Amino acid sequence: MRIVWMLAAGALVLGGCHKLMAPTVAPAGALRVAAVEDPAKVELGFRLFFEPMLSAGNKMSCASCHEPGRGFSNGEPTALGVAGQRGNRNVPTILAVGKNPYFFWDGRAATLEEQALGPIQNPIEMNAKLDDVVAKLAASKDYPPRFQAAFGTGVDAPGIAKAIAAFERALTLEPSPFDRGDLTPAQQRGRELFNGRGNCKMCHKGPNFTDTNFHTTGVGLDRPNPDAGRMAISKKRFDYNAFKTPTLRNIEQTAPYMHDGSLATLEEVVDYYDKGGNPNPLVDPEIVPLGLNAQEKADLVAFMKALTSPGTNIKEIAHSRP
Ligand code: HEC
Ligand code: HEC
Repeated sequence: MRIVWMLAAGALVLGGCHKLMAPTVAPAGALRVAAVEDPAKVELGFRLFFEPMLSAGNKMSCASCHEPGRGFSNGEPTALGVAGQRGNRNVPTILAVGKNPYFFWDGRAATLEEQALGPIQNPIEMNAKLDDVVAKLAASKDYPPRFQAAFGTGVDAPGIAKAIAAFERALTLEPSPFDRGDLTPAQQRGRELFNGRGNCKMCHKGPNFTDTNFHTTGVGLDRPNPDAGRMAISKKRFDYNAFKTPTLRNIEQTAPYMHDGSLATLEEVVDYYDKGGNPNPLVDPEIVPLGLNAQEKADLVAFMKALTSPGTNIKEIAHSRP
């Protein structure tokens, strides 16, 4: 059985039959994420996302770093792996990733399927061998029938990747105040600045507030050995220190900010843009000093807080019984 999970204006609209999620009528002015996913794959992916058997020593799951209660990030400047090693990049949210054309801060993975097996094997993240993970899952009571139902096969690595990707794509947001058009006066003023003089919309555009492109905002260029960012993948000089424009959905929940987690609060992020980033010839020409006053800065922050959704459909996914 296949169902259509469609998010319009953040509301779940169901095609096909599924008892557990009541269809809601979509308000106008919409976040549009449509996903056609097989519920057996989505639920398997949901279980795998929270499954410590995916890591060496069964200590850590995807959700250890992508915590649902913290906007699917983890509150740390950079990630801490299974053996206590610290990575050099901030944990991005997985909310609204389904529509991205590529993944990671530097865009090095082309699909969610390709991305999913990365952290499992990354020595400073979950540090596991795929064969071991497959063997552990295959020896459990629960997983073999679930793989059978989802893929008609036993437990294997491609199935792990496909199921996790299906879960990530099916994860949708309830409408935020922004989606509902329910903004306070400060948030409305912030929206004007965001779209206008603040120039934020130049890069943070579309339903998920990202142009899905790479830009150098100069973060980290003031410290020794900056992260080369996209350049390490594209080998193009102009991609030095460039990172994918992150979504701003639920941004309030995912502090600290930027690829290196170096800005602690949204206020610090706005101050950073206000001064035109780090003075450096490499910085994107769209990043210029803004001359915002204290009220305008507060309004911009207020607007970003209007992008916080009251919840996701994760509970419905957890309780679905295909
Ligand atoms: C140790 C912490 C940690 C664990 C465990 C972890 N991640 Fe991540 N995740 C990160 C970090 C850090 C990045 C960004 C890395 C980069 O861009 O180089 C990331 C990036 C991602 C992205 C890309 C998001 C985007 O916007 O491009 C997805 C999707 C993702 N992780 C899913 C997963 C899945 C699925 C698992 C489990 C199989 C997992 N992560 C386990 C820390 C972690
Ligand atoms: C030239 C494109 C561009 C413009 C203009 C721009 N941003 Fe960004 N934004 C980015 C990129 C790229 C990053 C990630 C940079 C990094 O981590 O090094 C980012 C990061 C952020 C983050 C942190 C996201 C996270 O998950 O850590 C916030 C918040 C943000 N921008 C808000 C704004 C606001 C507010 C404005 C306007 C004042 C703005 N941006 C203007 C491209 C842009």
